Amino acid sequence: MLKLPGLIDPHVHVREPGQTHKEDWDTVTQSALAGGVTMILAMPNTKPPIFDEATLNLALASAHSKARCDYAQFLGAGPENAAEAARLAPRAAGLKMYLDSTFGELRLDDMTIWLEHFRQWPGPAPMVVHAESRSMAAALAFSQLFNQPIHIAHISLKEEILLIRAAKERGVRVTCEVAPHHLLLTAPARADGRLEVRPRLASQADVDALWQNLAVIDCFATDHAPHTAAEKDGENPPPGFPGLETMLPLLLTAVSESRLTLDDLIEKSVTNPRKIFGLPEQPETWVEVDETARWEIHAADLHSRCGWTPFDGWKVTGQVQKVVLRGKTVCENGKILAQPGYGRNVRAG
Ligand code: NCD
Ligand code: ZN
Repeated sequence: MLKLPGLIDPHVHVREPGQTHKEDWDTVTQSALAGGVTMILAMPNTKPPIFDEATLNLALASAHSKARCDYAQFLGAGPENAAEAARLAPRAAGLKMYLDSTFGELRLDDMTIWLEHFRQWPGPAPMVVHAESRSMAAALAFSQLFNQPIHIAHISLKEEILLIRAAKERGVRVTCEVAPHHLLLTAPARADGRLEVRPRLASQADVDALWQNLAVIDCFATDHAPHTAAEKDGENPPPGFPGLETMLPLLLTAVSESRLTLDDLIEKSVTNPRKIFGLPEQPETWVEVDETARWEIHAADLHSRCGWTPFDGWKVTGQVQKVVLRGKTVCENGKILAQPGYGRNVRAG
C-alpha cells in the first residue's frame, strides 16, 4: 500500500453555475475524491462566466453548500473587467485568460484587452493563459513586457514545450501544465465527436516531445471538461473530456511502466501546483493506493455526471483505495463518504 499526498488539480470545469446537466459542484468533487484529488481550482467559463463580484459570489455559494473537496475559483479575463478582477484577486485562484478557441465565449482577440489585464493583475497568483502555438509566444512576450508570471494551460505541441524550455532557460517567469490526454492520446484519423477537445489531440511527434521534456512540465492538470455523452455524440460536439477520476490511475500506470517516477508524480500533481498558485497545505490529508492493482476503467463506475470517458476500457495499474481529507475518510473503495459542504474554499481568507 502506497501513501500519497492529496492531489491538487489546477484546471477543472465545474459547470456550475449554468450547466449543471453536465456537472455541478457536488458531482465534480465526488469525481475528484474518487480520483485521489483533494483540491480543485475551478475555471470561470460557466454560465454566466465568473467576471465580477456578483458572479464570483454565485459560484462560491454553490461551492460552499455542495463541494466535498477543497477548492478555489478562478476569475475570467473579460473585455471590461481588468480593474474589477484585480480588486477581487485575493479571493480567486488566479486569473484565467483565453486567447484561443475554447468552449464558451471567453476568448479575447483584442490585444488592447490583454494589455489591460497584464497591466493590472496584481498577483501573487499567476495569470493562467489558454494560449496555443503562436498565441503562446505572444503571451510569453506580454509576460516579459510586464514582468508578470504566467502559467500556460494544457500544452500539447512540441513547438510549445520547446519554446517554454527556451523561455525558462532565459529566466522568463513561466510555468506550464499538461493534461494526461495530451500525453496518452493522438489525433484520430477521422473526426470523432467524443475526441473533440481544445487544444486538439496532436501527433505522435508532439506526444513524444512532451514525454522527452517532462522536466519542463511543472504540473499535471486534468482540464476536466465534462459534456454529456449525448452532446459529444450529437450534431455539434462540444470540446472537452472528463479527467478527474482517471488522472491518478493513468499516471500510476506510467510509473509502473517506468515512464515516470513517483517523485515526478508528486512534484507535478501536489508540490508544484501548491507553490505556483500559493495554496495552503492540507493537514492530515492523504491518498492510499494499491500500486499493483490491475483494473479496467469503466465509464459506468465514474462519479462525473457526464457519463463517459475517453479512457473507457483502458487497463491501468494502480488504484485508489482510500482518501483522507483533513482527518476524515472521504472516500473508501470507490464510495464517497464526505458530505456536500465538507470542502473548504482555500481563498476564504
Ligand atoms: C473546455 C470546456 O469544455 O470548458 N474544453 C476543452 O476542450 N478543454 C474549455 C477549455 O479548456 O478551453
Ligand atoms: Zn480547460
